[in-house]
Amino acid sequence: MKALVYNGPRNVSVKNVPDAEIKQPTDVLVRITSTNICGSDLHMYEGRTSVENGKILGHENLGEVVEVGGAVRQVKVGDRVCLPFNVSCGFCKNCERGLTGACLTMNPGTAGAAYGYAEMGPYEGGQAELLRVPYGDFNCLLLPEDAAEKEDDYVMLADIFPTGYYATDLADIQPGESVVIYGSGPVGLMAAYSASLRGASKIMIVDRHPDRLALAELMGAIPIDDSKGLPVEQVMDLTNGEGADKGCECVGYQAHDQDGHEHPNITMNNLVRSVRPTGALGVVGVFVPEDPRSSDELQKNGQIAFDFGLFWSKGQRMGTGQANVKAYNRYLCDLIASGKAKPSFIVSHRLSLEEAATAYQHFDAREKGWTKVILKPNGLAH
Ligand SMILES: NC(=O)c1ccc[n+]([C@@H]2O[C@H](COP(=O)([O-])OP(=O)(O)OC[C@H]3O[C@@H](n4cnc5c(N)ncnc54)[C@H](O)[C@@H]3O)[C@@H](O)[C@H]2O)c1
Ligand SMILES: [Zn+2]
Ligand SMILES: [Zn+2]
Repeated sequence: MKALVYNGPRNVSVKNVPDAEIKQPTDVLVRITSTNICGSDLHMYEGRTSVENGKILGHENLGEVVEVGGAVRQVKVGDRVCLPFNVSCGFCKNCERGLTGACLTMNPGTAGAAYGYAEMGPYEGGQAELLRVPYGDFNCLLLPEDAAEKEDDYVMLADIFPTGYYATDLADIQPGESVVIYGSGPVGLMAAYSASLRGASKIMIVDRHPDRLALAELMGAIPIDDSKGLPVEQVMDLTNGEGADKGCECVGYQAHDQDGHEHPNITMNNLVRSVRPTGALGVVGVFVPEDPRSSDELQKNGQIAFDFGLFWSKGQRMGTGQANVKAYNRYLCDLIASGKAKPSFIVSHRLSLEEAATAYQHFDAREKGWTKVILKPNGLAH
């Protein structure tokens, strides 16, 4: 089969590799029809993870079931399914409680597994023609009748829609509250969209890419361009000097200033400053335990200079981590099916797998108009 393979920093290519196949009776084999490139893939692409050469990338996957193992009961050949980026078992102490992003058995020694990702277990990714899905009955979300028609919406259920929603859940956004979101990439946009679904009265989103901020504005958020003034001051001006009720971090450890210089603590400290005392923070941007290639001395060891004193004295609280996609994907799916949510509004490109390497280049440069790319490994008709 053809698959997008990591060859080293800023070097990916489509290669012929052995077909993915059923290895356990609980596996399901999926022919991938849509698979997104994610901001998370860029941490690997830029050489800022320990991902090994030869890894097939891709954790935002949707497709058609072509084979099921002998112990699979619910999923059938021909079903259209969306796969959470988390690979989870369904029976460990964390999965039992819905915390599938921290599954304890699929990546022993740590918590949490994923397709095609550094440090997340031996699972290959879905930027390929075929994908092996472990524990298929647990991990496959069966899609409704209109799966083909709304494929570009449903594929967002693999990661960024539930992840954006998770940020708003960690921040405990209640109807009528105001929220500030750092990062207007796909995840930040989905957090803003989710905040709107949860009834937030004022959604402020900080970034410096006019095309991404324009998309945020389109869905009713207030764009804050941090190249035009300090973002904390802009939030204070918009909230009578109080700060937002709640805040979301959707950037992660490669946060930078307008000149591109990385400051891994910049969004976290801005968040603490621009959220009111007692406000909650949902941090879904990725931070890593070690980052030897960082130019920041603390960050090399996975540390940041965090304004903990201010965080503490403001009485704020914070939730972090990998999204537990399964806790949300079924209900977010129902919102799409009923026409109440349309997350595909952020999609800028639908491309063949052959175009993947160039797509990584453009998306990595955050070029104007490259907001979210869907690859179609089995033809653009999907
Ligand atoms: N927790 C999870 O389960 C989960 C899932 C998916 C993605 N993520 C992470 O979420 C983060 C965002 O993902 P994405 O796909 O939107 O990525 P992206 O890289 O496309 O978007 C990030 C955005 O942040 C902006 N940004 C950079 N520095 C900033 C700053 N100082 N202030 C404000 N904005 C700034 C960039 O301009 C960019 O538009 C990444 O770290 C990704 O790995 C986490
Ligand atoms: Zn992703
Ligand atoms: Zn588990």
